Amino acid sequence: MLGAFKINGGNQLHGNVQISGAKNAAIAIIPASLLSEGVCRIENLPYIKDVNYMLEILEKLGSKVTRVSDHIVEIDNSNITSHVADYDIVQRMRASYYLVGALLGRFKKAAVSMPGGCNFGERPVNLHKKGFELMGADVNLQGGIFAAEATHLHGANIYCDLVSVGTTINLMIGAVLADGLTTIENAAKEPHVVDVANFLNSMGANVKGAGTDSIRIKGVKKLSGCTYSLIPDQIEVGTFMMAAAATGGDVTIENVIPKHMDAVSAKLVEMGVDIIENDESIRVKRTGPLKCANVKTLPYPGFPTDLQPLIVALLASANGTSIVNEDVWENRFQYVGELRRMGANITVNGRAAIIQGTKHLVGCPITATDLRAGAAMVIAGLMADGETIVNENKYIDRGYEYFETKLRNLGADIERIDSED
Ligand code: UD1
Repeated sequence: MLGAFKINGGNQLHGNVQISGAKNAAIAIIPASLLSEGVCRIENLPYIKDVNYMLEILEKLGSKVTRVSDHIVEIDNSNITSHVADYDIVQRMRASYYLVGALLGRFKKAAVSMPGGCNFGERPVNLHKKGFELMGADVNLQGGIFAAEATHLHGANIYCDLVSVGTTINLMIGAVLADGLTTIENAAKEPHVVDVANFLNSMGANVKGAGTDSIRIKGVKKLSGCTYSLIPDQIEVGTFMMAAAATGGDVTIENVIPKHMDAVSAKLVEMGVDIIENDESIRVKRTGPLKCANVKTLPYPGFPTDLQPLIVALLASANGTSIVNEDVWENRFQYVGELRRMGANITVNGRAAIIQGTKHLVGCPITATDLRAGAAMVIAGLMADGETIVNENKYIDRGYEYFETKLRNLGADIERIDSED
C-alpha cells in the first residue's frame, strides 16, 4: 500500500493558517547541538519526519533526547559515545553532512555515511571538503563515507566557489570550536543560515555577519547549553501563498517573517495576486485571473528553488506563456511529466521550463517525486477539475506538518488515503 492524498479540486481557500518552525533550520540546529556538552532546549520545532529522523540519529550517537511536546525537545549531549554515523542510521537524511561539522568540531574527528544523489541531481560535498581541509582536517570521501579528522582544527579564510547553503552552515558549525578566526566568503544568506548562527551564538559561539556574504567565526574553547526557538518556515509560507493564489482564495498566513518572502510576494503580485503584509502575517488574495510571469531561481534573496515546482504548477493555469529557469539544481523538472498528465502544457529545455497556460487542469492519479514536487502536485490538485490522487505522500510528510489538516481547515477537500500499490 502507498500513502496518498485524495483531492477534489475547485474549492477556494479561505481563513487563517499558522506556519511551523523552519525544517531546514531544524535539521541543521539539531546536529549543531552536538558541539555543546550542556542541554539544548529547542522550541518551535516542526513536527515532521525529517526532524524525527535527525533526533533518532543523535540518539544513536548517544544523545539523550527528551520530547517535551510535539514542538519542543531537550537534547543532552554530555554522554556522546560515538563520532561515527553509519549508513543504517543516516540513509533517510540527505542533510546528514551537518553531522560532519558538528562531530569534527567537538571530537576533531567524524565519519558519516552519505546518502546518494536525490531526485533533482547529485548532492556533491566537494565544497564542504575543501573548507574543512583549509581548516586543517584530513578529509576522505571513499566508500560513501565522509570522514574528517584533524590534530589541530584551526581558523581559515574560505572562499566558496558557488553559493551553497549546506557548505556555509557546515563550515560555520565546524569553525565554532576551531582555534582562531574563520572567514567564509561568498556565503549563503538564507534565513536559516542566520538562524543556525543565532543558535550557535546562544550557546556561546562568536559568529558575526550571517545573512551577508561574509561570515566571521572566532573560535571559542567551549559552548554551553541554551534555549532557542526556530524561525518560521519560509518554504511552508510560500507553499500556502501559492495554494491561496492557485484557488482564487483569501488566506492570512500567520507566524511569518514577511521580509523572507519578498521575492515570492513580488512574483505573485506580478501574476495578479494581492499581497497584504503585516508585522507577522501575510494575507494572500486573488480575485482576477492569474497572469503569466518569468521566474529564475537563485540563492536568497532570489526566488527559492524549493518553491520552483509550486510556481510552475501555478503558472500552468495562468494566462499566457511563462518561462521558469532553474539556476540552482541541474535537474529539477522531473515532476513536470506528472503535471502534463493533468493537462499542463509544459516543455522542458535544459534548465528552463516553458509553460503555456491552460484554462483547466484535470484531476487524475499522479505521483510525488520529491518533497516540494509533492507539494506542487497537491496545489495542482486543488486547482484541477475533479479528483486527483497524489501518490507517495511520504515525501510530503518529510517536510510539512499536518499538511492536509491545515489545507482542510482552509476549506480544501483533501484526505489522506492508502492507495493500492
Ligand atoms: C539546501 C536545502 C535544499 C535547497 C538548497 C538550495 C536543506 C536540507 N536543503 O540544500 O532544500 O534546495 O539548499 O536552496 O537545507 N554544490 C556543489 N558542491 C557542494 C555543495 C553544493 O557543487 O559541495 C551545488 C549543488 O549541487 C547545487 C548548489 O551547489 O547545485 C546549491 O546547493 P546547496 O545550497 O549546497 O544545497 P543544500 O544545502 O544541499
